[in-house]
Amino acid sequence: MIEGKITRISGPVVDADGMTGATLYEVARVGNEQLIGEIIRIVGDIATIQVYEPTDGLKPGEPVIATGKPLTVQLGPGILEQIYDGIQRPLPVIQAQRGAFIERGIEVPGIDHEKKWDMKIKVKVGDKVKPGDIIAVTQETPAIEHRIMIPPDMPAGTVKKAVSDGEYTVDEVLVVVETKDGATYEVKGYHEWPVRRPRPFKKRLGSEIPLLTGQRIFDTFFPIAKGGTAGIPGPFGTGKTVSQHQLARWGDAQIVVYVGCGERGNEMTQVLEEFPHLDDPHTGLKLMTRTALIANTSNMPVAAREASVYTGITLAEYYRDMGYDVSIQADSTSRWAEAMREISGRLEEMPGEEGYPAYLASRIAEYYERSGRVVCIGSDDRVGSVTVVGAVSPPGGDFSEPVTQNTLRIVKVFWALTKTLAAKRHFPAISYLDSYTLYWEQLESFYRERFGKDFPELRAEAFRVLQQDNELQEIVQLVGPDALPPSERIVLEAGRIIKEDFLQQNAFHEADSYCSPEKQYLMLKAIILFYGKMREMYEQGVDIKAMIDHDIVEEIARMKYVRNEEAGKALKDLIDRITALKPEDFVIAAETN
Ligand SMILES: Nc1ncnc2c1ncn2[C@@H]1O[C@H](COP(=O)(O)OP(=O)(O)OP(=O)(O)O)[C@@H](O)[C@H]1O
Ligand SMILES: [Mg+2]
Repeated sequence: MIEGKITRISGPVVDADGMTGATLYEVARVGNEQLIGEIIRIVGDIATIQVYEPTDGLKPGEPVIATGKPLTVQLGPGILEQIYDGIQRPLPVIQAQRGAFIERGIEVPGIDHEKKWDMKIKVKVGDKVKPGDIIAVTQETPAIEHRIMIPPDMPAGTVKKAVSDGEYTVDEVLVVVETKDGATYEVKGYHEWPVRRPRPFKKRLGSEIPLLTGQRIFDTFFPIAKGGTAGIPGPFGTGKTVSQHQLARWGDAQIVVYVGCGERGNEMTQVLEEFPHLDDPHTGLKLMTRTALIANTSNMPVAAREASVYTGITLAEYYRDMGYDVSIQADSTSRWAEAMREISGRLEEMPGEEGYPAYLASRIAEYYERSGRVVCIGSDDRVGSVTVVGAVSPPGGDFSEPVTQNTLRIVKVFWALTKTLAAKRHFPAISYLDSYTLYWEQLESFYRERFGKDFPELRAEAFRVLQQDNELQEIVQLVGPDALPPSERIVLEAGRIIKEDFLQQNAFHEADSYCSPEKQYLMLKAIILFYGKMREMYEQGVDIKAMIDHDIVEEIARMKYVRNEEAGKALKDLIDRITALKPEDFVIAAETN
């Protein structure tokens, strides 16, 4: 056993000497209270440890023990519905033990080791098995079947013993495997995995399936692929958290890992209080039944924040390996980067841009690179995915700062929240001009099939209108809309309709919060048809004011409030009526108004 002594304490960072033989990224127990930490630097016999618990009261001379084990998480049933701190300690368990404060040095297992799970055993004696093969399943929550697998780093072999179906704790041996050289190993209901090591897979797949979110600005204009990456930078109060919650609730991933990194205390309380009550529209159960929540409150040490994104992504990869589509959302990654900056400062490393460490870019890249839609290890070639979405909160809303810039370099989708739109109460306040997706080309055929044959053309037309509208707005600012020729006023009206009646979507409105693919398609189709109709009517001499005042414009504005189940019929009917509009309809409408 390697045991050293504390020589220096600087906030969450502790130096200890006498640590010869210790290795980088191994867990150390620090001080008389055995605080949990991780060795992040070794120089000579001095190890530098980042400590995941408050270090006040710690004194030089107290012992430090290197455990020889990397920072790991426990992977088995009982992760879902749980709320963890940054190193997978269940907050409710810790709180039950000691009020609202985490007692220091407590080692609490990430999953319940006493609970018995009703296991169905999937292998029998004599079966050939290899890493990734499912040996047992259990209903982890009413929403999700947990699949217990041969851990990735175990050798292939033959099942020598297998228990029968029944109730087992995660510590009980379910299967014994004999390898070809005669050795045996046991497989229990869980295994451990180091958080900083990506879990292996067989093969990366393309990005041709979107992660549908029910949010029109995302699905129709800037879609993300399953297994893809997206960044949501946004100034203070522009809708990062609401967007992330909408993605968690409505996104068609089966499992959600939500990493909350709060800066202000109440920010996390909001998540801790709200999240467990969110209903899951897909299953009719609580969203938590398919969610693992990782919470970093502002009173937790910064080092735990640094670890939390790795804990989160490892949990996400584990459910991916079972063959699920997983989405991991971090709100916000800026808090994680700030933790890196603080620790780096304590290490007295050479600071890079704005005081962030020089390795900021590579850490951000490594995190997002753990995304992907993959063929999982195991004999059945099941497919799973991890989609990574990170919010960024640039100080002062300045997107040129390092965290935003380094995120942009990596992610393939950029959802830019803007103050201007938020101030106009245009929600989601995502810029339709500055945002982008690099997945569209790969996703296009999916959209033709699922949304509508002509969907890509409708979308392209809507983009053109928004572009032209934006150019015209500059002139409007100077001379007012009436100075524009009618053909351009038609573009302005179409632009207004797209912005107000399509892009704006109220997360808190029962019918509008989620918009089905069919409804998105029909809404867009109705709008683009009406735009065409306005141009056609203008050619035939109809007055533009008569068009803008027509009742049908009001009906277009109400489309979003039509319930998804009724949208098919109601919007097709509206589309028929738009198609049938004739010049004389406008004359009458104008007179009666
Ligand atoms: N899609 C939406 N529909 C309706 N209202 C919204 C929507 N998005 C944001 N809002 C409004 O904007 C407010 C701020 O949103 P939110 O808390 O998500 O911002 P934030 O960017 O996470 O802020 P912070 O910087 O404080 O973390 C919400 O309380 C809500 O009133
Ligand atoms: Mg927020």
